[in-house]
Amino acid sequence: MNFPNKPRGTQDIFSSRALAYQRIQKIITKILRNNNYQPVIFPTFEAEELFTKSLGSATDVIHKEMYIFQDRKGRELALRPEGTASVARLVLQNNLIKEGYPLKLFYWANMFRYERPQKGRYREFWQLGAELVNSEGIIADYQVLKLMSDILISLGISDFTFNLNYLGNAQTKEKYKNQLKDFFKGKETELCDDCKRRHSTNPLRILDCLNCQKNFPYPSYENSWDKDDLDYINELNQILNKFNFPYQYNHRLVRGLDYYTGLVFEVDLGTEKAVLGGGRYDNLYQEIGDKNIPALGFAIGIERLVDFLEEKKILEIKNYVDVFFFVCNSSAYLDIFLWKEALANYQLIIDYNLEVRKSKALPKIIEHYQPQLLVIIGEKETEVNKILIRDCLKKTDFFVEKKIAIEWILDYFKINDRVN
Ligand code: HAM
Repeated sequence: MNFPNKPRGTQDIFSSRALAYQRIQKIITKILRNNNYQPVIFPTFEAEELFTKSLGSATDVIHKEMYIFQDRKGRELALRPEGTASVARLVLQNNLIKEGYPLKLFYWANMFRYERPQKGRYREFWQLGAELVNSEGIIADYQVLKLMSDILISLGISDFTFNLNYLGNAQTKEKYKNQLKDFFKGKETELCDDCKRRHSTNPLRILDCLNCQKNFPYPSYENSWDKDDLDYINELNQILNKFNFPYQYNHRLVRGLDYYTGLVFEVDLGTEKAVLGGGRYDNLYQEIGDKNIPALGFAIGIERLVDFLEEKKILEIKNYVDVFFFVCNSSAYLDIFLWKEALANYQLIIDYNLEVRKSKALPKIIEHYQPQLLVIIGEKETEVNKILIRDCLKKTDFFVEKKIAIEWILDYFKINDRVN
């Protein structure tokens, strides 16, 4: 075909998959709102510096994956590769922090990373992210873990485990980096080209490398924990155990962005790539705006989530209509306009043919619209003031008085209570 295709790594989302995105958004938003999270919307592009300052210049996201461009005035801008830095900027710029109170924010946003595209990895993808800002301590950490597990359960996912790690404070992190550096001393030539660079700039990032990761028995993060770290971990574990929270520690989990401090987590749902990831980042606000505002949060990759829900048949969405009015007589349109109005406040998907059709078109119409109820208003029916309603699921027909058509339809859908 003679027109430009969509750019590599982007997606056209349509039909039942687009409906799945909407359904998921509705379910997760409900949980977030129930937990007093407020939605935020931030720009698709920001000053490039916002991300380079906060995500870490040695991370893959900054080093190789950012979409950077100059606008017509030569400003250096970047398409957002993630949302946490943008939320921090939004909070700081709009003075949203009220001393002594946590701030709970969430966003739905498309993100951009110049990665090698494959299933579950795109150059433009969607995230749901939530950030508990101006909060510190174990209760805040537990609250966010519980929120994520409530979200997974509300989506119908019951079998999941959180992989946790504890990166500790700046000293602990530094200690571990040095342990890694020492460990790789003399082994530099065995590292891939990227990790040779990482070894000097930020050795933690070697743990992200799928090649080098499996080749070395490098030291465990546990070795760098001090007493405070251990106290934290013991206390958190006690709460998690008390509430049977599904977790395990993975001491290799360091996450791909540099801003993390303290608790980090991922959920992989048994899939190759993590669906959800996040953690605490107590220094990010300091780095961006010179303010001491501790925070933690997470983001769910919507593509990976939808793939998982579809594969496991947890979310099966069909693209159908609830009621299709089949018009084979032009005077019927007047009735339909009134009925549509009467049904407008009920969450029913309703449609009708725009041109009068002969009844032989019916099989094709049914195949195309997949209606649950088909209402036929033909001449024969109009003469006796009745309509024919076909229950396409049960394949049964009913002759119904025109004047009770709405009652009949409402009654039908009450019996077949269905979540929209
Ligand atoms: P992240 O781990 O980089 O964290 O991304 C979160 C999720 O986004 C991943 O677990 C994955 O599901 C999805 N994701 C990432 N890259 C891609 C891609 N190229 N294609 C499809 N899905 C992808 C963050 O972005 C942090 N901002 C999370 C966070 C919030 N931490 C604290 N607060």
